[in-house]
Amino acid sequence: MADFTLPLHSETPAEWARQVLQDPIALLMDHAFLEKKAANNAMALLTRWPGEWVPGWLEAMTSVARDEANHLAQVIRILNRRGARLTRHHKNPYANELRDLVRKGVTEEILDRLMVTALIEARSCERFKLLGEMTEDEEIGKLYKALYSSEFGHYKVFLKLALKVEKKAVVERRWLQMLAAEAKILERQEPGPRMHSGLAPVA
Ligand SMILES: [Fe+2]
Ligand SMILES: [Fe+2]
Repeated sequence: MADFTLPLHSETPAEWARQVLQDPIALLMDHAFLEKKAANNAMALLTRWPGEWVPGWLEAMTSVARDEANHLAQVIRILNRRGARLTRHHKNPYANELRDLVRKGVTEEILDRLMVTALIEARSCERFKLLGEMTEDEEIGKLYKALYSSEFGHYKVFLKLALKVEKKAVVERRWLQMLAAEAKILERQEPGPRMHSGLAPVA
């Protein structure tokens, strides 16, 4: 049995899922952009560092990009069936703030980009699990449950690559800093029907 524990420093409350599930189409729209971004990110990492010195780099990036493109196709199918079309623009202040944590220097940059990616995967995974449990929509529930385990696998893939880039103690120290920063960044996000939104005050 796989170990599905996540190391995140904060737990998304069930109330967040209740709030965002009030507008499931807007949530799916935001989600579609995230899948597209995740596929692009894997290809960007592959283009930037074509895997000369990290074993398994090419295989990991192509396999993640393929998974994310599949996820995107699944979300688009549901959106199309429900008469929604993707808009052109999308904002993701959460991911942008995480990207600001990336340091300069070859090893530092690779390490931090892998970790930012792992953090986004881990947080998405945590939220898909909650959404899968909370939604009453069978089709959407099935999607979230399937994605939960896929994104969990991705989170592990990126962390494993990080361990090939730097010594274990260095990776662990940086990972703890990143986890702490992620929880703070998430906490200050605006509420709304988005995967990485904050919690609206409960009356
Ligand atoms: Fe995905
Ligand atoms: Fe993923």
